[in-house]
Amino acid sequence: MKRLAVLLSGRGSNFEAIADAVAAERIPDAEIVAVISDVPGAAGLGRARERGLPAHAVDRRRFASRSEHEAEILRILEAARPDVICLAGYMRVLSPEFVAKFPRRILNIHPALLPKFPGLHAQRRALEAGETMSGCTVHFVDEGTDTGPAILQRTVPVLPGDTEESLSERILVEEHAAYPEAIRRVLSGAEKGR
Ligand code: GRF
Repeated sequence: MKRLAVLLSGRGSNFEAIADAVAAERIPDAEIVAVISDVPGAAGLGRARERGLPAHAVDRRRFASRSEHEAEILRILEAARPDVICLAGYMRVLSPEFVAKFPRRILNIHPALLPKFPGLHAQRRALEAGETMSGCTVHFVDEGTDTGPAILQRTVPVLPGDTEESLSERILVEEHAAYPEAIRRVLSGAEKGR
């Protein structure tokens, strides 16, 4: 069995899409071995508990520094021994030291067609730039913010009258298909990143 860990900070809809895909064997021979959140009240963490998955709150406020916070997350990951770590709305930038421990084994999903619009408020910035296409990107995490090699993208049209909310919802539907598919590819060894 391939072992997946998920890091999240909020709602957790991408985590749920991954968990559903694992349960339905659309990601074959895989299990979720840890769900970790820096936000103890994150809805996604509650959903993980409801599913009976190992859920860990690692409250950033309990740690004096990023390195101490990451050390606690590392301790959990070393015990869980994941093959792949999925960032699913994890709202902290991981240190280069942390990323270097898991080369090509940390994935992230971003609500834009990278390399366009890395960072926060990607959907709003795509609208403001007058883009006619947007979408999402699943990519390997490197030491930059949303800069690592892409695994796959799914596109959506930007429609007249779109708001940040309506565009975000349209992209989110594609995110929920894209993330499981990207994980499946990575676990199958087919995907080395472009
Ligand atoms: C998604 O839009 C994802 O692309 C971005 O953060 C959001 C997380 O949503 N990185 P959720 O917590 O998975 O529902």
